[in-house]
Amino acid sequence: MTALVDGFGRKHDNLRISVTDRCNIRCFYCMPAENVVFMQKSQLLSFEEIERFVRTVVPLGVRKIRITGGEPLVRRDLPVLVEKIAHIDGIQDVGVTTNGILLAEHAQALWDAGLRRLNVSLDALDPKKFEEITRRTGYEQVLEGIEAAKSVGFDPIKVNAVSVRGLTEDEIVPFGQFARETGVEVRFIEFMPLDADNAWERDKVLFAHEIIERLSDEIGPLEPLPDQDPTAPATDFQFADGIGRVGFIASVSQPFCMSCNRFRLTADGKIRNCLFSLEETDVKSLLRGGADDAAIREAVVASIAAKKEGHEINTARFIQPERPMYSIGG
Ligand code: 5AD
Ligand code: SF4
Repeated sequence: MTALVDGFGRKHDNLRISVTDRCNIRCFYCMPAENVVFMQKSQLLSFEEIERFVRTVVPLGVRKIRITGGEPLVRRDLPVLVEKIAHIDGIQDVGVTTNGILLAEHAQALWDAGLRRLNVSLDALDPKKFEEITRRTGYEQVLEGIEAAKSVGFDPIKVNAVSVRGLTEDEIVPFGQFARETGVEVRFIEFMPLDADNAWERDKVLFAHEIIERLSDEIGPLEPLPDQDPTAPATDFQFADGIGRVGFIASVSQPFCMSCNRFRLTADGKIRNCLFSLEETDVKSLLRGGADDAAIREAVVASIAAKKEGHEINTARFIQPERPMYSIGG
C-alpha cells in the first residue's frame, strides 16, 4: 500500500491525536486567559472513531501515536483509548503529553492500559512563575503527578518546558539541577507562534543555544547523546559527568522540518499535515458518513502529499495559523 511520503520524500509514521481542546490551566503561549469557546462534545471524535482512524492508517505505515489535548486527561476515560490504541497491530509506541495536574490520579490506570511514554509540560519550578505562566494554580499537583508516574514505573519521564525570553531565564539552572536530581529528562522548547493572543514575537524566543551555554557555564559541560533518532525534534544531551539529561526543541532557531515524520488529527476530526498548516482535511465527515477505509486513506495520502516544505517562521511570509495550540494538539 502507498506509504505516507510527501513531495519532499519525508515518510510519515508518527501521528499525534488531540482528544480534547479543553484544559484545566491557561498557559499564555497557548490559550487566552478567559472566555474560551470550546468544542461541543458532539464535535469531538469518539474513541471508536479515533480507533477506526488509527486502524485505517496503520497500513499506510503509521507506527507511533502520541495523545495530546488541550489537556488529554480532562477527557473522560482516557486510559480506555490508550488501551484500544496500544492493542492495534502495527502500533509500536503510544505516548501521552499532559500538563500533569490530573496525573497522580490517572498514572496507574495509564500504565495498566499499556502506556509507557509520558511527557509532562512544566515551564517553571518556581511556583509563582508557574502561576504567572499558566494563570492558574496547580504547581504542587504537577510535581505530585510526576512523582506518582515515577513510582508507577514510567521511565523515562520527560518534562517539556517552553522557554520565553524575559520570563524563564531563571528557570534554566533549576531545571538542569532537577534533571540531575530526579532522572527526569527536561526538554526546553522554543516559544512558537501558536498562542491564542497573537503575542508571539521573535524577540520573546529564548534560544536553545543560549540555554546550553547557561547550563554549561553554571552546572557543567554537556555532551550530545550518541545514536539519536534523526526524525526526533529534540536534540538530547547529557552532562559530561553522566548525571542528568536535557534536550532542546529548537523549532525556531534550528527548524527540523526537513526530517519531520509527523501529522496530526485534531479533536474535531481534521487532519493537519503540519503544526503550522493553514489548511486541513476533514475526516470526521468521512468517518461519520459511512466512507470505507480506502476513502479515508485516500484523504490522508492527499493531505500528506500536499505538505509544505517547512514552517517559514523565520520569514516575512509567515502566517500564524488560526487555530492556537490548544485546539491543534501540541
Ligand atoms: N510554543 C512552544 N511550545 C508550546 N506548547 C504549547 N504551546 C506552545 C508554544 N506556543 C507546548 C506545551 C506542551 C507541548 C504539547 O507543546 O507546553 O508541552
Ligand atoms: Fe493546556 Fe497544554 Fe495549552 Fe498549556 S500548552 S494551556 S497545558 S493545552
